[in-house]
Amino acid sequence: MCSIIGYTGSLNVAPVLVESLKRMEYRGYDSVGIATINDGRISTRKGVGRVATVDKSLNFITMAGQIGIGHTRWATHGGVSDKNAHPHYGCTDDIAVVHNGIVENYMELKEELVQLGHKFKSDTDSEVIAHLIERYFAEQKDVTQAIIKTCKKLTGTYAFVAAFEDGTICGSRYDEPLIIGPVENGFFISSDILGFLPYTDKAIFLDNKDIAVIEGPSLKLYDSDGNPLSRPITQVAWELAAIDKGKFTHHTLKEIYEQPHTIITAATQDREKINNFCQILLNSKTIYVTGSGTSYHSALIAKHIFARFAKIRAESIMSSEFQYALDPIDSSSVLVAISQSGETADVLQSVKTAKLMGAKILSIVNIPTSSLARISDSFLSIDCGPEIGVAATKSFTGQLSLLYTVLDTLCYGCVEYKAGKLELVDAIKEVLASETEIGQVADRIREARDIYIMGRSIHYPVALEGALKIKELAYIHAEGIAAGELKHGPLALIDKNSVVVIINPRDTTFDDNLASAHEIKARGAIIIGVSDEPNDVYDIFIRIPSVRVPFYPLLEVVPFQILAYHLALRRNADPDYPRNLAKSVTVK
Ligand code: AGP
Repeated sequence: MCSIIGYTGSLNVAPVLVESLKRMEYRGYDSVGIATINDGRISTRKGVGRVATVDKSLNFITMAGQIGIGHTRWATHGGVSDKNAHPHYGCTDDIAVVHNGIVENYMELKEELVQLGHKFKSDTDSEVIAHLIERYFAEQKDVTQAIIKTCKKLTGTYAFVAAFEDGTICGSRYDEPLIIGPVENGFFISSDILGFLPYTDKAIFLDNKDIAVIEGPSLKLYDSDGNPLSRPITQVAWELAAIDKGKFTHHTLKEIYEQPHTIITAATQDREKINNFCQILLNSKTIYVTGSGTSYHSALIAKHIFARFAKIRAESIMSSEFQYALDPIDSSSVLVAISQSGETADVLQSVKTAKLMGAKILSIVNIPTSSLARISDSFLSIDCGPEIGVAATKSFTGQLSLLYTVLDTLCYGCVEYKAGKLELVDAIKEVLASETEIGQVADRIREARDIYIMGRSIHYPVALEGALKIKELAYIHAEGIAAGELKHGPLALIDKNSVVVIINPRDTTFDDNLASAHEIKARGAIIIGVSDEPNDVYDIFIRIPSVRVPFYPLLEVVPFQILAYHLALRRNADPDYPRNLAKSVTVK
């Protein structure tokens, strides 16, 4: 998943593109490149690394022109190198192309084009798009026809923007987001609202196979056969201030500290919308909940709380495994898809599969204009504002807060979340106030080779989430383990070099966890207890306040977010842009 951006208007384009790419860098940060058009000529600069770093050596902002395109890359095909950085060209430098997605039939197309005399400069799949456009444009000198013919040749997923020497920029998409931002005397075309948020709060979301052709202040939209079409202009809910780090050093830390506020916004839902959402759930014979990464951990907790408190059976399935686990899904089924970005390819694929089998689609997103929200029968948004840090933090507790609100609607207030969430706000603030102490724990375990996180029952998905945060932020091998499974194998991993964290709040799992802690202690490991009750078996104690039993998952995850953040700092990792990752995974 990469970020792509195009602009035509009255502003000097280079500084505009540099800032847009910086705001979208969380989508991929292996390399960056910009092409601008000035006096009928295209010039390009591209290089490996983050936008700010590459800009220092290539000085993007000195590039002339008021029309241009840009790209930040998350490498899929071809190593991280200057030649594989975008924009890409055909055999001549007349048409520049930036692409997000995967062209699955690129080898075949490449062979075809090489037969026709085309010479390739990179190892990427994306370059074939530039050569195809060049080939078809040469036939009729018709931009729209060139794009139509090119798209018909592509299989896989794509959003691309092409810039022509005459100043025309155009683009198309299939299963990758592409959005138009109308501005004075021109337009932005971007992967993400953040690409143009400072300039307009209006957006035109392209549907699959739509083609956009922009010539100065004129925008023409076509379907895949060249028939003119129009798309609605949507009001964007986000404000620019929401992506400002403010007093915080990193977006990740700011987003951790936003949680006392965001769990409330997530629980504040339109009554009619949530009733409709719950009615669809209650009318369904079988309920499946799916997601990827952190959102899958929310799905596991959904399954648990629906069964335990509302006596509703729901099956949770990892989205990347969904296609292999096609339980008897039919028109009496509902799939609840959970996704912060609403653009995760595995989640969208699961939804497509379930839809084909007749299931109803409900979704929980953070971006109401996302692809997932737009293909769902009904969706609810956690509205926690842009989440820039690649590691999901406020979106996780936001998803849980919304799930508890849904639960309370399903079971007529059986967990009293209405009152419970206020208690949680105070409790989370208390944990945030212990950031320094948790930082000192990070000091003590910063050299750890392996960290095991244990939890039982509803705390097991939180153990998985804690491990994921430590893996992705601090690059330490961390594993979430169901504490009861310890003696069935994982205990063999434990020795005096191991660090074991036990999630052990005062509930029905407390005593069994203490027993497990003693088994671990006997093997000499360092034991960290995350609990509202200290115990001698812990070498290190991270205190969390007591809250009502159902709500512990929203609280006990916060120490892990802070711990992972501080471990990242102490291991010189960038908490906002962890290596090899990106915020929304739009390729399978
Ligand atoms: C979590 O910290 C990761 N960024 C990742 O696992 C993420 O949760 C996953 O890619 C799903 O993203 P989504 O919620 O936007 O679909």
